[in-house]
Amino acid sequence: MAQMVSPSLLSANFGYLQKDLDMINRSDADWLHIDIMDGTFVPNISFGPPVLKYVAELCNKPLDVHLMVVNPMNYLDAVKSLGARVMNIHYEAEIHLHRAIMKIKESGMMAGVTLNPSTPVCMLKDIIRDLDLVLLMSVNPGFGGQKFIPHTVDKVRELRELIESTSSNALIEVDGGVNVETGKLLADAGSDVLVAGNAVFKAENPEGVISALRTL
Ligand code: DX5
Ligand code: ZN
Repeated sequence: MAQMVSPSLLSANFGYLQKDLDMINRSDADWLHIDIMDGTFVPNISFGPPVLKYVAELCNKPLDVHLMVVNPMNYLDAVKSLGARVMNIHYEAEIHLHRAIMKIKESGMMAGVTLNPSTPVCMLKDIIRDLDLVLLMSVNPGFGGQKFIPHTVDKVRELRELIESTSSNALIEVDGGVNVETGKLLADAGSDVLVAGNAVFKAENPEGVISALRTL
């Protein structure tokens, strides 16, 4: 089934960021995926609000923000002020998930919950109806260019069943090691949105890869 595509900014060339953002603007990409890290929830740091303010100004695609931080709700206002379309927080980082999801929705953004590879889909049973999106990590978060964890395909299938059996409207997004081959397995299993970093930004024809991922 046709997929939405959210290229991950983490793999862009930060020496020539405008060039990569111009490519994204010209492309068929649906969203731009933004990875925010704090060096504590994940062993890496990416970029924060001062840089993202300019990204938001230069990019004409909706922003799909993925917070890999402890206490993600401390960043609600910062994410909202970027004009983000989606705010994804990790299941493993938020104790009061229901309250957090309600607050994200009240602020006018789509609310997403992200699962690390080791967190089972069944943990979402009592929150799935309240979610706009579930982001399944298909690598351990923190770095671009890692190898796809094949078990994620089973998780997509299981999540699709949970969504259908509860009449939830949540979209299924997958992040990590996604390329045309792994993307095809995910699309066949029932994903809706594919995040792709290296597969897009390191390609000779990034716009072609985005179009190919969209039509899987
Ligand atoms: C990893 C990030 C991903 C990353 C994906 O922690 O959440 O969004 O940029 O990069 P690729 O597609 O190269 O695995
Ligand atoms: Zn991400």
